[in-house]
Amino acid sequence: MMNPMIPTMKWTGNGIRIIDQTRLPSDEIYLDLVTLEEVCEAIGTLRVRGAPALGIIGAMGLALAARIALNEGADVMPAVAAAAERLRATRPTAVNLGWALDRVLDRLKSEGPESPGEIFACLEKESLRIHAEDLEMSRAMGRAGAAILPSGARILTHCNTGGLATGGLGTALAVAFEAHLQGKNPHVFADETRPLLQGARLNAWELKRNGIPVTVQVDGAAPWLIKSRGIDIILYGADRIARNGDTANKIGSYMLSLAAQAHKVPLYVVAPTSSFDSKIPDGEAIPIEDRGEEEVTLWGGRRTAPEGIDVFNPAFDITPATHITGWITEGGILQPPFTEKRLAAARSSMMRGGTR
Ligand code: MRU
Repeated sequence: MMNPMIPTMKWTGNGIRIIDQTRLPSDEIYLDLVTLEEVCEAIGTLRVRGAPALGIIGAMGLALAARIALNEGADVMPAVAAAAERLRATRPTAVNLGWALDRVLDRLKSEGPESPGEIFACLEKESLRIHAEDLEMSRAMGRAGAAILPSGARILTHCNTGGLATGGLGTALAVAFEAHLQGKNPHVFADETRPLLQGARLNAWELKRNGIPVTVQVDGAAPWLIKSRGIDIILYGADRIARNGDTANKIGSYMLSLAAQAHKVPLYVVAPTSSFDSKIPDGEAIPIEDRGEEEVTLWGGRRTAPEGIDVFNPAFDITPATHITGWITEGGILQPPFTEKRLAAARSSMMRGGTR
């Protein structure tokens, strides 16, 4: 296995270098984002995507806004405040984006840097810290998840949950990477993940380059795969987890959870504590992003549904907490209610090496 880490994004000092996820798996192209417009465009078009990755790029976006204001001799604080609002509006479901923006803004408040240069330095440092912590959280989730996998586990997953969706290692795929490293020989069954194919294009690419056996199936084949061939465990990520455990993830996750119920397959959500939203009581309060009809009616630029047809294209759905066996975090496997106190304890347990 090669190093499973992916250069999802990197702060260059003057901008953010990303791998363009819309071009994978056929082209490995890197882009330098040097304006706030470019960052927002990259988020909106899913060049950068995945809940933890959105948090990191949001934080770096604030550092970039400060860098630009500094270069132009403009007021830095108003530029940063305006950038935070623009970034926050790009995608509504993943809580990690707002979480990271708030964390960076809180850091500015508590440190109180005065000169424009100090403000920039504070933002840059905090965004790099968020990135580094995300990697640590991925490693800890990988270890916590691998510990419950049987040898030769047949893992079913949905959407991309690897390094591309995070700071470089992953959520659910971090578990597969760790199990592989431990010699447990996992086999991953990756749902294709309509309409944007994050499973087929991105999960399969990440797993294949690391020598982990992977099979891709269309989303509708997953229940039949479970019934006819057997699956040991379902692992997927999360974009936002409410206090009672209701979990928003890529559209199709709810369908998979129904199949898990019907066939009594354990289903674990793998997510860092930055994906939990203890402020909202349940899934009803999670905003679900609706995306353009062309994602459903066009295939490679060709029409696959009649012109003008009505389309339902939610990017996410909610898995009820009752369908989920456990939540694998950097602080171990948790159960609801996810109060701020419980999440803080999970965070500090990783810091103390509890999941090492
Ligand atoms: O629309 P996307 O591709 O950003 O959706 C991503 C997902 O739904 C992932 O499964 C989720 O972020 C959790 S894994 C990092």
